[in-house]
Amino acid sequence: MSEAHQLKQALRAVLSGQQRAAADHHRPAWHLAPPVGLMNDPNGFIHFNQRYVLCYQWNPLACAHGAKFWGQWSSADLVNWRHEPLALAPSESYESHGCYSGSAVDNQGVMTLLYTGNVKFDDGSRTAWQCLATRDEQGEFHKHGPVLALPEGYTGHVRDPKVWQHDGLWYMVLGAQDLALQGKVLLFRSPDLHQWTSLGEIAGSHMNGLGEFGYMWECPDLFELDGRSVLVVCPQGLAVEEWRWRNTFQSGYFCGSFDYNTHQFRHDEFHELDLGFEFYAPQTCLSDDGRRLLIGWMGIPDGDEFFQPTQANGWMHIMTCPRELTLHGDRLYQQPARELQQLRGEESRLAGSAQTLPALPVNSAELALTVSGACELDFAGELHLTIHAQGVTLWRNNLRSGEPEERYWRGEVRTLRLMCDRSSVEIFINDGEAVMSSRYFPSANPELHFSGTGEIGLRHWSLRQCV
Ligand code: FRU
Repeated sequence: MSEAHQLKQALRAVLSGQQRAAADHHRPAWHLAPPVGLMNDPNGFIHFNQRYVLCYQWNPLACAHGAKFWGQWSSADLVNWRHEPLALAPSESYESHGCYSGSAVDNQGVMTLLYTGNVKFDDGSRTAWQCLATRDEQGEFHKHGPVLALPEGYTGHVRDPKVWQHDGLWYMVLGAQDLALQGKVLLFRSPDLHQWTSLGEIAGSHMNGLGEFGYMWECPDLFELDGRSVLVVCPQGLAVEEWRWRNTFQSGYFCGSFDYNTHQFRHDEFHELDLGFEFYAPQTCLSDDGRRLLIGWMGIPDGDEFFQPTQANGWMHIMTCPRELTLHGDRLYQQPARELQQLRGEESRLAGSAQTLPALPVNSAELALTVSGACELDFAGELHLTIHAQGVTLWRNNLRSGEPEERYWRGEVRTLRLMCDRSSVEIFINDGEAVMSSRYFPSANPELHFSGTGEIGLRHWSLRQCV
């Protein structure tokens, strides 16, 4: 389909659907959501020419996965975002079934995108091209076509290039599935972003001391933080255990050291990045002042997503808030980006036994709590957090089956920071030691109810609308 035709279709979808989507009371007040259609992974996250750019996997034409476009936002401050013209539409034969995920780099002042051209065949097989596009000074993107074909030894599932520069050379990690159907991360190097040389596999199932560890690894992101190397990645196919890996697909990280001479990545064990019900495919970038920022998709491609009520209003999914990463030993801590404090309005302070606290509005709010003892936090009867001696349990009814489902964090809770929007909450435990992100779909103006005999001290801010 020609690009002009696709753009016309996308424009028609936005113009005819955006009013209804905007009127939905589940639409976030300050998180990013697509104007219409289905959004998934964050893509091309970069600070470039004084602005942050965040692109995203987008099907503007339907609340369904399908031939993905790249939508685009930009922001000077990580708080106030504006929707920009579409970055990529899947118009060429090498991307016929989607401009899949990828990243952005600054190549001598030219914003350059590396992304996956996904191609499906009638027999159910597929191939993948790693493709390059550049942005000109007017903000138009120009496709330069594939720069890397499917490497030998892998199925058609090779995708999601994350590219960075080190000592004058470009490096790229790709998520992949080998012919034995094991998930892997591949490394490539290039002098110019166009000619790529394989440096082999750096991590994956049955590597670096791991046993069977998933049939496909998606969305890798390798970066340095506080002198160590961190690989963020989404291994698909980990079996559910009692206390962990309870989502259909997980997103987590390995902390270790990457050697640019031997191309070896030695790492410790896998840790989930977020223990809530919805979190996947995050991407990081460096802030203007050198902080490592992360944004994730507050969704999971597991089919349950199609039971979310926003679909009836023609839009689906939101991004997480931007988060700052720091390393404590071999553990990543996440905190809401400090810029989000600009959203704070009126503050109230309360303290006492949980059961004596009044209900508080959480439509668009931030809460900072100190906690001791057993407490229960109930979000409008739809999402429930129990704080107990072993840690926390997050509970809700599954949207598809109506059956209760739970997620856990084990440890001693001292503080909680709750970042609340109209249909989501991000729970930061102990200054970012763990995070639980979840959607929930309350009636308008949800309230948070407290119970239990534990003691709580809290600050509550209403957050102003900014999207
Ligand atoms: C992760 C993912 C990526 C892929 C994209 C397609 O959610 O499956 O691996 O590039 O979504 O939308």
